[in-house]
Amino acid sequence: MRILVTGAGGMLGSALVPALIDAAHTVCPTDLHVPVDDPWLLLAGNPRIGHLDVRSPDQIARWIDRVQPDLVMHLAAETDVDLCEVRPDEASATNAMGTQHVAQACGTAMLPLVYISTAGVFDGLKEEPYDELDQARPINVYGRAKLAGEHYVQTLVARHYIVRAGWMVGGGAKDHKFVGKIIQQLEAGADTLYAVDDRFGTPTYAPDFAEGLTRLIATNHYGLYHMACLGSGTRYDVAGVILEGLGRTAAVNLVKVSSGYFDETYPAPRPRSEMMHNLMLERLGMNTMRPWEEAVHEYLQRSFPEAYAAQFDPVTA
Ligand SMILES: NC(=O)c1ccc[n+]([C@@H]2O[C@H](COP(=O)([O-])OP(=O)(O)OC[C@H]3O[C@@H](n4cnc5c(N)ncnc54)[C@H](OP(=O)(O)O)[C@@H]3O)[C@@H](O)[C@H]2O)c1
Repeated sequence: MRILVTGAGGMLGSALVPALIDAAHTVCPTDLHVPVDDPWLLLAGNPRIGHLDVRSPDQIARWIDRVQPDLVMHLAAETDVDLCEVRPDEASATNAMGTQHVAQACGTAMLPLVYISTAGVFDGLKEEPYDELDQARPINVYGRAKLAGEHYVQTLVARHYIVRAGWMVGGGAKDHKFVGKIIQQLEAGADTLYAVDDRFGTPTYAPDFAEGLTRLIATNHYGLYHMACLGSGTRYDVAGVILEGLGRTAAVNLVKVSSGYFDETYPAPRPRSEMMHNLMLERLGMNTMRPWEEAVHEYLQRSFPEAYAAQFDPVTA
């Protein structure tokens, strides 16, 4: 298939684009902060990314017209939950209205659309992991804007996949989420780390998600899916697995804190639970996601090989 991807330069896009190319698709990656505006360069296998701002219906229409895709994959989003909270208009412009523009264009051109959504659409009160049959009730601006995006996709595009991810793990140098922040602190020489133990979620390894998504789009089983790693844990648990993976458990003091500890740094309200259950993938016999601990180990080994290898080095260990 010929696939137009928005937000392709981010954490997920950097795993998804290679996975799509490996599956013999022709990929046209686009993103916000890039200069290239020539789809033919991209379709000829040039690894550069084209400029497409999803807040512009004209730009979306122009890219669809030029590329003539068989499928659009819409990843573009403002993913900084705290920034969304303080600038709700920006969150809405990109995550809700931007998705409306993409959905409108796909609906008009009768194209199938993949929209990536989030466990952040839930209120977090459920004790067990959330599945696709649970009612979405977001408690912050980011979650509300992403849920509005889901509604636009459901309303405007007949053939759609809405795929919700959990806590994204991936991106290597582009990793601006939890694992990336922990690694940054370790690289800066931190000997104490503070991690929250009263918020629960399911890490989602971007390369596994990308592979699962690549398989899903081949099925034509349109609908709403959860796609996260198996299992769940707190940020404290994730930090523990990172330290273990890097052989730093003894060297670094990992301190449990409640979420209130980070109130000033991360002011947006967050659901108590973003744990996920991939019920619909299970029903299709397509739940190939791994336990998150295993995936985090692989991520460290692949994306931070020097730090990972150091644990086996008797000189530095
Ligand atoms: N990260 C998570 O933990 C997580 C969890 C669940 C679901 N998701 C969803 O997964 C999708 C991919 O996110 P990600 O994890 O890859 O996050 P990411 O690294 O922040 O990637 C999002 C990309 O979208 C781009 N973007 C922002 N505004 C745009 C606009 N107006 N037009 C076009 N592109 C724009 C960003 O560009 P700039 O960086 O230059 O602004 C960035 O490259 C998003 O839809 C997100 O909501 C993410």
